Amino acid sequence: MTLRSLVTVLSLLALSAWAQTAATPPSKGFVDAMRGPVPIDQPTKPPVLANNVNDDQRVPRNYEWQPPVIPHRVDGYQIDKNFNKCLDCHARAKTDFSHAIPVSETHYMDRSGKKLDHLSTRRYFCMQCHVPQEPARPLVGNTFEGFDALMKKGAQTPANKK
Ligand code: HEC
Ligand code: HEC
Repeated sequence: MTLRSLVTVLSLLALSAWAQTAATPPSKGFVDAMRGPVPIDQPTKPPVLANNVNDDQRVPRNYEWQPPVIPHRVDGYQIDKNFNKCLDCHARAKTDFSHAIPVSETHYMDRSGKKLDHLSTRRYFCMQCHVPQEPARPLVGNTFEGFDALMKKGAQTPANKK
């Protein structure tokens, strides 16, 4: 074996030893916010599903064109080719009676912006975009600021005061 190949073999050995230690998670003091202290090779116990939020309080939107989240339970609502339970209350023709918020006019437009006399097929499956909420504690911290908060901040900067 030449000296050069000996050096190569030795450095490969050192590299693989380093890779092994790097791949092992530190055993103590390592807590993942989502897994807790459960070691990475063991399954965690998922939290039990709670009932959806059902307080009927509309949730403010965080950015323009955000589909509003659903403030009521929707379990078992039928949405298929025969019937759409959501439209039973939210269709523009039904809201006088149901007092639900009518779907906006964008829901009656095709993809080129042409107005239709019926709900667009693109908007038929409501829960592609609108989701009910879980009363769950956030798993990780989040400093996201919504549109309204940013607008307020913007309005207070000296540049805007004049
Ligand atoms: C029995 C009538 C009824 C049915 C059925 C119904 N909703 Fe509602 N929905 C309401 C009412 C009333 C509100 C207004 C807030 C409240 O009282 O809960 C509302 C609020 C909402 C909002 C909030 C809108 C906003 O601007 O904040 C969304 C989104 C929504 N519903 C989506 C749905 C979807 C999707 C379905 C079907 C899976 C559905 N709803 C079925 C009555 C209904
Ligand atoms: C492709 C996504 C998408 C689908 C599917 C969809 N929506 Fe929406 N929806 C939106 C977006 C985005 C908004 C907010 C902007 C707007 O009004 O277009 C909205 C707004 C709404 C609002 C609030 C209207 C207002 O004036 O404040 C209601 C209520 C609603 N949708 C109900 C429904 C129902 C019921 C269905 C099913 C029949 C449905 N949506 C299907 C994206 C969607």
